[in-house]
Amino acid sequence: MKQSSHYQLKILINKDQIAETVARIASEITRDYQKRQPLLIGVLKGSFIFMADLVRQLKLIDIETDFVQVASYYAEKESSGKVTLIQDLHKSITGRDVLVIEDIVDTGLSISFLLAHLKKKNPASLKLCALTEKPSRRQVAVSIDYLGFTLPDNFVVGYGLDLNEKYRCLPDIYSMEK
Ligand code: IMP
Repeated sequence: MKQSSHYQLKILINKDQIAETVARIASEITRDYQKRQPLLIGVLKGSFIFMADLVRQLKLIDIETDFVQVASYYAEKESSGKVTLIQDLHKSITGRDVLVIEDIVDTGLSISFLLAHLKKKNPASLKLCALTEKPSRRQVAVSIDYLGFTLPDNFVVGYGLDLNEKYRCLPDIYSMEK
């Protein structure tokens, strides 16, 4: 158990469980996108470690990658509900098979804002892959096509997930507990 200033970091999902789940999601995506050329769009910053592991497990030669960045304003660990796009795509996605890669779907506000934005660009298909979700905190309905883990209502860090930019580099996922 690691110590932060006010919270204890308790291991929730270890790196072996993460690796097994990333491999399972990669095989689902590989199966569904045969003979297609999907564009995987990572949502910065939280998804970068998950996406890096995921793309290396896909048995699809023709994938492309891009990134967007969404800011969801958090006061400490609570979403304010305000979402803005701070980095958009540089290329057209019209007619493309788009798969969005997200770290966590919490209230769902950020990802539904982003999916609505991408849908306006007329992709051929638009799907969502999320490593984790916290269904108990959902404020808007979100359909997740590829899901890793369902989490309890605790703030989590590690494997890309941060608290004020810290803890992203931890190889396991921890919950923050008092
Ligand atoms: P949502 O808009 O509430 O679904 O939150 C989406 C974003 O908030 C995620 O992409 C994360 O960046 C951040 N977030 C939500 N819950 C957590 C958490 O437990 N740990 C770290 N970041 C989180």
